[in-house]
Amino acid sequence: MEGKLLKEAAAIIAEAKNLVAFSGAGVSAESGIPTFRDPGGIWDRFSPDDFGTGGLSMLTGLSQRGSEFLKEMLTSFGKAEPNPGHIALAELERMGILRSVITQNVDNLSIEAGNTRVIEVHGNFYRFRCLVCGGKFKLAKEDFLSLLERIADAPEGEDLSGLIPRCRCGGVTRIDVVGFGEPVEDFAQAEAEARSCDVMLALGTSGVVTPAAFIPRFAKRAGARVIEINPTGCYFPEIVDLYIGEKTGVALPMIVEVVRRIRGTA
Ligand code: APR
Repeated sequence: MEGKLLKEAAAIIAEAKNLVAFSGAGVSAESGIPTFRDPGGIWDRFSPDDFGTGGLSMLTGLSQRGSEFLKEMLTSFGKAEPNPGHIALAELERMGILRSVITQNVDNLSIEAGNTRVIEVHGNFYRFRCLVCGGKFKLAKEDFLSLLERIADAPEGEDLSGLIPRCRCGGVTRIDVVGFGEPVEDFAQAEAEARSCDVMLALGTSGVVTPAAFIPRFAKRAGARVIEINPTGCYFPEIVDLYIGEKTGVALPMIVEVVRRIRGTA
């Protein structure tokens, strides 16, 4: 990666008063979680209907394809750890520079990396949402994964509703991830963050899914400078001030290192 771009990005970030990061599946690629639209990605091999919206198909019995989709998610999520890109974003928060991470990812990795203000506009794979009262709750990651493994291994079409935890109100629950055509979560908060930042990082996203993909555009319209990091191309060409064609797990730690030097906190 060009040293000049690195230094330019670090200079912008070091003087940011309200830095916000907007992240997509690419940020978790180096944690072993496949992206959706890269060649061989999830949507090359599965359809969103295989698993049903928020895993609703678990209530009436998973199809063969649904079970394969779930097994792939469980395998990659089960092994995934925050990578240097996630850790760099947590470091920027610890340095008092990064205010929040608005993520399209449902893998919980930004939270596990240590970021404390994470707006998960597409939900969180480890959280259940009640279909009756809307209440939400999380299971511990290992409990969640072993429960879903039991579900994925059940015979095709078996009624699994007995395995899925009920809400305190007694209601049936679903996995709290946002399906296509469903309202995104915490969007008002995400929009407010974007419209009040002075620097926006657009990280590892193809920027094709709305309304999430409006986030960097809200920031630009509010006068923020936009830095995009993505190894395969610039997906926000009309608003980006600085584009870095590199993996986030490579670029972000290098940028944070220069920011530390600039801030004299190396
Ligand atoms: N570092 C940074 N970017 C990367 C890396 C990496 N190591 N590896 C891949 N990428 C880039 C890809 O080039 C691609 O542009 O990450 C992007 C991932 O794009 P998508 O797979 O479309 O994922 P995303 O943009 O997050 O999709 C948005 O679509 O299916 C829905 O709900 C799903 O949240 C998801 C939404």
